[in-house]
Amino acid sequence: MYSLLRKAIFTLEPENAHDLTIKTLKLMGNSPFNPIIKNLLINSPKGHEKTVMGIKFKNPIGLAAGADKNAEAIDGFGALGFGFIEVGTVTPLAQEGNPKPRQFRLPEVEGIINRNGFNNNGIDYLIENVKKAKYDGVIGINIGKNKVTPIEKGKDDYIYCLNKAYNYADYITVNISSPNTPDLRQLQYGDALEDLLKSIKARQKVLAEHYNKYVPIAVKIAPDLSEAEVIQIADTLQRNNIDGVIATNTTISRETVQGLKNSQEIGGLSGKPLQQKSTEIIARLHQELKGRIPIIGSGGIDGIENAKQKIDAGAELLQIYSGLIYHGPALVKELLKSIR
Ligand SMILES: Cc1cc2nc3c(=O)[nH]c(=O)nc-3n(C[C@H](O)[C@H](O)[C@H](O)COP(=O)(O)O)c2cc1C
Repeated sequence: MYSLLRKAIFTLEPENAHDLTIKTLKLMGNSPFNPIIKNLLINSPKGHEKTVMGIKFKNPIGLAAGADKNAEAIDGFGALGFGFIEVGTVTPLAQEGNPKPRQFRLPEVEGIINRNGFNNNGIDYLIENVKKAKYDGVIGINIGKNKVTPIEKGKDDYIYCLNKAYNYADYITVNISSPNTPDLRQLQYGDALEDLLKSIKARQKVLAEHYNKYVPIAVKIAPDLSEAEVIQIADTLQRNNIDGVIATNTTISRETVQGLKNSQEIGGLSGKPLQQKSTEIIARLHQELKGRIPIIGSGGIDGIENAKQKIDAGAELLQIYSGLIYHGPALVKELLKSIR
C-alpha cells in the first residue's frame, strides 16, 4: 500500500512532502482515535524492552533527529510504534536554515541529500511541544548551535539548550556532526571536543543535583572519520564519561552515488548509500568502546538485514529516517518483528 502512497508523495518536492507528513502525523497524534490507529499499525508489540544509558526503552527502534525538528508530531510518530523519538536538532534561537530547495531525493539508490542547516523554531517552542506530548516512549532532545554563533562560542549554545532541555528530555544528544552548519564538525576533534564535553558534563552534574535526576548525554558523530579519528573520539568520550554515542549522521562523501541525478548537490547524504559506511564506523567504535559506552546505530537502515548488521557491529539501539521515507511506517513494524 505504501508504494502507491509513495508515488503520490514523491510527486511533491521533498520538503513539501515532509511538511505534509508532519501535519498529518500531528493531526493523527491529536486525534481521539490515536490509540485505535496505534493498535492497527503496530499490534502493540511486546517483549522488546531494553535498558540502555540507564533508560528503559519499550523497543530499540527510534526515530532519528531531523524528522521532527520542532517536536510537533511526537504523538503521531509515537503511533507508528517507535520505542524512542529524537526531536531537533534545536538551537537556542529560531533560524530559517539554508535557502530552498535544500532536500533532494536519489530514488535509484534510496538516498537523500539535505542541506537544511538546522531550520527550527528555537528551543522554547520545542520545549512547549515536548511538554504537551502524551507519547509514553523515550524522548531524546538533539541540540546544536545557531549559525550566527561563532564556532569558538558554540559551547555556549549547547549549554544554553542543555539548561532548557534537561528537565524535559529522557536523554540529550549533542550534535557535532551535521555537515550543514559551517565548521560544526570541527567540534569532533582534539581539544575542541575535550573542552566541549568537559563543560557539558560539568553542567549535567549541576543540573542532575538541581532536578534530582540524571539525564544521560549522547554525542552524535559523523561517518566521515578516519580510523585514527574514531579512536581519538572514543577515547575522549570515555575520558569524559559520556553516556551514549550515535553513529552516524549523514555523509559528505559521494563515493556510492557517482553519476546519479542530484548526487552533486551540497549537503549530507543519508539512506542506503550511507548504510555500509555507518556500519563500519559502528564496528570500529565498538572495538574501542567494548560496550563501555552504548552505541545507537543510524545510517541507511532499510530492513532486517541491515538492522542486524548494525547490531552485530555493536549497536544497542537503532534509529531510522530515510528508510521511513522510502519504505513507510511498515518498516518500523518489520524491524520490531525480529529485532530485540
Ligand atoms: C532531511 C534530513 C534532515 C536531518 N536533520 C538532522 C538534524 O537536524 N540533526 C541530526 O542530528 N541529524 C539529522 N539528520 C540525520 C539523521 O538523523 C540520520 O542520522 C541520518 O539521516 C542517517 O540515517 P538514515 O539513513 O536512516 O536517514 C537529518 C537527515 C535528513 C535526511
